[in-house]
Formats: sequence, C-alpha cells, structure tokens
Amino acid sequence: MESPERINELIAGAIAGLAYPAAVPGLFDPVRYTMESGGKRIRPQLLLTSYCAFGGENPEHALKQALGIEMFHNFTLLHDDVMDRADMRRGRPTVHRRWSESTAILSGDAMLTLATQLIADCTPDILPAVLGLFNNTAMEIYQGQQLDMEFESRKDVTVGEYMEMIRLKTSVLLACACRMGAMLAGASETACQSMYDYGIALGLAFQLRDDWLDTFGDPIEFGKEIGGDIVNNKKTWLLITASSEARQDLDDILFEDLEAKERIAQVIRVYRRLDLSERCLALIDSYAEKAISCLDNPEIDSRWKEYFTELARRSAKRTH
Ligand code: IPE
Ligand code: IPE
Ligand code: MG
Ligand code: MG
Ligand code: MG
Repeated sequence: MESPERINELIAGAIAGLAYPAAVPGLFDPVRYTMESGGKRIRPQLLLTSYCAFGGENPEHALKQALGIEMFHNFTLLHDDVMDRADMRRGRPTVHRRWSESTAILSGDAMLTLATQLIADCTPDILPAVLGLFNNTAMEIYQGQQLDMEFESRKDVTVGEYMEMIRLKTSVLLACACRMGAMLAGASETACQSMYDYGIALGLAFQLRDDWLDTFGDPIEFGKEIGGDIVNNKKTWLLITASSEARQDLDDILFEDLEAKERIAQVIRVYRRLDLSERCLALIDSYAEKAISCLDNPEIDSRWKEYFTELARRSAKRTH
C-alpha cells in the first residue's frame, strides 16, 4: 500500500519540479512564490489518497490532476486575498501586498489556466468527466465567493445561508478532489458519491475551523492575521450567532468608530460571554463525525478508511 507520507513526498517533489514559462517572469514569479510557500496541501492529498483507497495502481497516474487542484486552490487564494484585503498568508506577505493588485489578478488568471491544463492532462476516456467535474466545481466556488462578499453588507444572514455559502466556497473543492481521485481509480458511482459527501462534510468542518482560527487562533501558527473576518464584517457562524443572541451589544460595537484592534477585542468579548468558542468547536466536531459516517462504504480499503477518519478528526483540531 502507498503510504500517506510517500504521497506527501510525491506532491512536494512535483510542486518543486513544476516548470513555468521563462518569458515574462513578472507573471510567473508570483505563481512560484505562492506554490512554493507551502500550505497544508490537503486537496492534492485527498485526491491521491482517494485514488489509492479505491485500488488506483500508481498515484503518479493521478498526480497531474492533484497538482491542478492545488494550483486552482492557490489561484482562488490570490484573488481571495485581494477581495478580503488580507496582508498575510502562510506567514508571508500576500501577492497583492508584495507585488500589486493587478499582479494578483493576472498571475491568478495564469494559475487558473495552468490548473486547467494540468487537470485536462488525462486519458481521453475519462477527460469529459474529469473536466466536467472541475468546471462545475469552479463555477460553484465563484458563486460561494460572491455570496461571501455580498454577506459583508447584510445584517440578516442566517446560519442556513452561511452553511450554503461555505459549502460553495470551500467544501466543493475538497469534495471534487475526493471524487476525482476515486473516479481516476475507476471506483463505482456509489463510491465516488460517498467520497464526495465525505469531502462536503469535511469542508464544512474545515471552513468553520478556519473562521474559528481567524478569531481564536495564534497568528504565527495560523500564518494569517487574526481578526480579519471581524474587521471585514464577514458573516461567520460566530458573528451570526452573536447577532441573533446579543444583537444590541454587537450593534453598539459596530456603530462606534473604533480602531480595528479595539473592535476585534470588543467583539471577542461578546463571543466569550456567549460561550461561542466552545459551541463552535462542538459544531466543527459534529461535521467531522458526519464526514466519517460517509466512509461506511465496503469498497474503501479499511486501512484507508482509518486514514480518512483520522484526517477528519485532525482537520477539526487544526491550528493552521
Ligand atoms: C485556505 O485553505 C482557504 C480556505 C478554504 C479556508 P487552506 O487552509 O487549505 O490553505 P493552505 O493551502 O493550507 O494554506
Ligand atoms: C476562502 O475563505 C475560500 C476561498 C478561497 C475559495 P477565506 O477567505 O476564509 O480563506 P482565508 O482565511 O483567506 O484563507
Ligand atoms: Mg474570503
Ligand atoms: Mg480570505
Ligand atoms: Mg478565513
């Protein structure tokens, strides 16, 4: 059996070995800067482990698609950091801060094309299904990102709307990676769908945890600035729940013309009073367990089932 460690090495080696066109370094330097800045690389891991779990013979045969998914994820981050006015990622300045917004837009565009080229580099029999899955997923992510932006200026966003928004902006890419790996291994439609469902629930836990870390995380470990969601008025589970349980307190804070640091501190005080940190953590755990329940599928090799179980529990506790 291929080990998860060997799969991680395969991904790291392939990313380090990616060749970019030598012409116009101004376009590709930010691509290399982003791809080589690390990150957890959970999406290519999901794709390749899912491939192995369903009897895929050689993970190198699915490596291009795994790299393509990671390239696409990194493309979304370049644009997301412009949209979210974020200065730090993976402990380094974001591309739009290090270069410019125009660079982040255009290098992001180049990454989208590089991603599509990598993903489409598969055998003709499976190409329509692989590309169809990828394109549908990409379109859902754009919709999720648009909703995320629109929610910034709305006060009546419900938890249900939030869950649908994070399903679109985050879960579908994890689910796509899981499904694509299973598809490339030739798994049955039932198996592909169960891995997709696993990815959706995992993604919900993953984004809830990201939002929790944005408020309660350690900035050095997280690699991103803390409190950006509060400053941007992002409708997270924390903020939506606080505004339904302590609307006046939050309105008072948001009405005042406070410095970012003071605003963050005051909102966190409300979160703490309502015990929202603990309640959010319990919700994250419940989605991790929901993901695990999707693994009840006789076609998954039992050792890989253990791996996916562990991955869901680890993701619910992640610190970066
Ligand atoms: C960040 O994704 C964007 C979200 C969907 C929360 P990751 O947390 O996977 O970021 P990296 O790739 O590990 O840096
Ligand atoms: C990002 O959500 C989702 C996508 C990039 C599609 P966030 O905006 O919360 O991600 P971070 O916190 O910037 O990584
Ligand atoms: Mg965002
Ligand atoms: Mg962001
Ligand atoms: Mg975030």
